[in-house]
Amino acid sequence: MSDWDFTRKVALVTGASQGIGAGIVTALASRGARCGVNYFNDAAGRNQSTAQALASQLPNAIVLSCDVADSTQVNSMMERVRAECGGLDILVNNAGIHMENEIHKMTDEQWNAVMDVNLKGAFHCIRAAVPLLRDSGRIVNIASVSGQMGFFTQANYASSKAGLIALTKVVARELASKGITANAIAPGFIKTAMTEDLPADAVKTLLQNLPLGSFGEIADIVNAVLFLCSPDAKYITGQVLNVNGGLYM
Ligand code: NAI
Repeated sequence: MSDWDFTRKVALVTGASQGIGAGIVTALASRGARCGVNYFNDAAGRNQSTAQALASQLPNAIVLSCDVADSTQVNSMMERVRAECGGLDILVNNAGIHMENEIHKMTDEQWNAVMDVNLKGAFHCIRAAVPLLRDSGRIVNIASVSGQMGFFTQANYASSKAGLIALTKVVARELASKGITANAIAPGFIKTAMTEDLPADAVKTLLQNLPLGSFGEIADIVNAVLFLCSPDAKYITGQVLNVNGGLYM
């Protein structure tokens, strides 16, 4: 991985208790950033324990319970970041869920739940972060190749991620005068909890259609995030970085 230095930067990563989010927050913290580790407080308390265990290994990290779908909770989370860290340099909107169903069977609840986390959640976080974001700040939104290709059974998920890409472009324009960049990363299929339950025949077909022939690793996404957050990416904004093994090109 790269040796970019994020010392004196404050970074907030949503959905950071596991998977790609945990990889991102660990990589930013190990390169000097003071990190906010956001987690969704599930009924079993599993995310809270994993977020706390993760944060205990990161210097000066703060653990932030917040459902990004709830704007009141997001505003409180951002207020804590302001009060405890004095501002924000990097926001990574990583929190995401999927609920698969063919469109004729998709319920209002399935549609709304996915939109509320994946698209409204990012909107809530960006809106609340704007007053805290310092000049030359960075926003990275974790979208999906599904938002570009529109996968079967993913009407809600694909639409939320396509919306997230559009939101990224608006934010890039609106914040450009402060040198703040906003970009999206569109991962393909990455080995995490989100993809571990895919049926074997679906995996086989996918691999046949993947030019690079395998699912990606969390590190592949982490490296893209680090680059977009680094000074080397200061002239890149409003873009979608595809990290998908060639699945969509
Ligand atoms: P994951 O399921 O391991 O992680 C998702 C994280 O979001 C979890 O920590 C979860 O607790 C958190 N989260 C869910 N609802 C939340 C809420 N309301 N508020 C705050 N946090 C919440 O999945 P993974 O793979 O690490 O996904 C991370 C991001 O990458 C997601 O946005 C996902 O859509 C995206 N992505 C993943 C791909 C993959 O193949 N794994 C492919 C394309 C995109």
